[in-house]
Amino acid sequence: MLERLAPDLHSIGPNPRNLLGIEDLQRPEIEHLLERGRFYKAVRRTEKLTTLRGRSIVNLFFEPSTRTRTSFEIAAKRLGADTISISALGTSLAKGESLVDTLNTLAAMNPDIIVMRHAASGAPHFLSRYLSTAMINAGDGLHEHPTQALLDALTILEVKGSLVGLRVAIIGDIAHSRVARSNLHLLSKFGADIVVCGPATTVSRNLTRLGPGIRLTHQMREAVRDADVIMMLRVQLERQNVEVFPKGEYFRYYGLSLEHVGLAKPDAIVLHPGPINRGREISSEVADSQRSMILSQVENGVAIRMAVLEWVCEE
Ligand code: NCD
Repeated sequence: MLERLAPDLHSIGPNPRNLLGIEDLQRPEIEHLLERGRFYKAVRRTEKLTTLRGRSIVNLFFEPSTRTRTSFEIAAKRLGADTISISALGTSLAKGESLVDTLNTLAAMNPDIIVMRHAASGAPHFLSRYLSTAMINAGDGLHEHPTQALLDALTILEVKGSLVGLRVAIIGDIAHSRVARSNLHLLSKFGADIVVCGPATTVSRNLTRLGPGIRLTHQMREAVRDADVIMMLRVQLERQNVEVFPKGEYFRYYGLSLEHVGLAKPDAIVLHPGPINRGREISSEVADSQRSMILSQVENGVAIRMAVLEWVCEE
């Protein structure tokens, strides 16, 4: 459907720098973003920076979001930019306007960056080919969520120091998770030893092609054994045409309990991008334990998004 609309888009100006996915990034670019994220985390929260003074940023979210949208907004404001946040329900899309017309309308107001979340995989990639405004992908369908993988990497690095040889278990509804895909790209670029685990309906052999060091299992206990990092994923009911697991059964097979954490390394950490569904993919005991990095991830999200906003504006 998007291709059909292509001629209607105004193709103008030089190509801006975009952040569409981790797949397109080289290691030095990722290292730079992580380093800048670390730098911004260390800057006092009360300090209002001027890095993006005079720039305007549109946050355009076609799907629900709490963490990503708020942290992009806070990040932009802390860098001195002006921000406008728009959710699809409040726009003319609800009055029948096409995505392309909405994007052209917003681009005509000349913002410097559009941060977009959309349910269609590839939507920001497609639109960025025709817009002269820098585009940041804040999650496209089940494809990529690059800033999530960057903030996850920052969180892991703060505790573990390095990603090389680190045993990372990614567990849950893999097939429907853009978080998993972006993390698989990033972690495999940095030499992690990754085990992907979930029900047979959500773990496909194709995942091993995303990079080196990726193994698959359907056994939760095998996945968590000796892990340094356990990354849990939400069951993405909104992306499943039919429910791929019987109701109530999920936690029994793929929910993370304290007993599972006990099988991992003694200093293992637990990550989850949120929103968490307590009792479905993670127990409250684990989510609220010392091992849980869930709130550190949220905090690091602001710093990483500051780094990314700065990076796309660099000449
Ligand atoms: C994730 C997303 O939207 O892809 N959430 C987030 O950005 N923190 C994961 C999810 O919704 O489960």
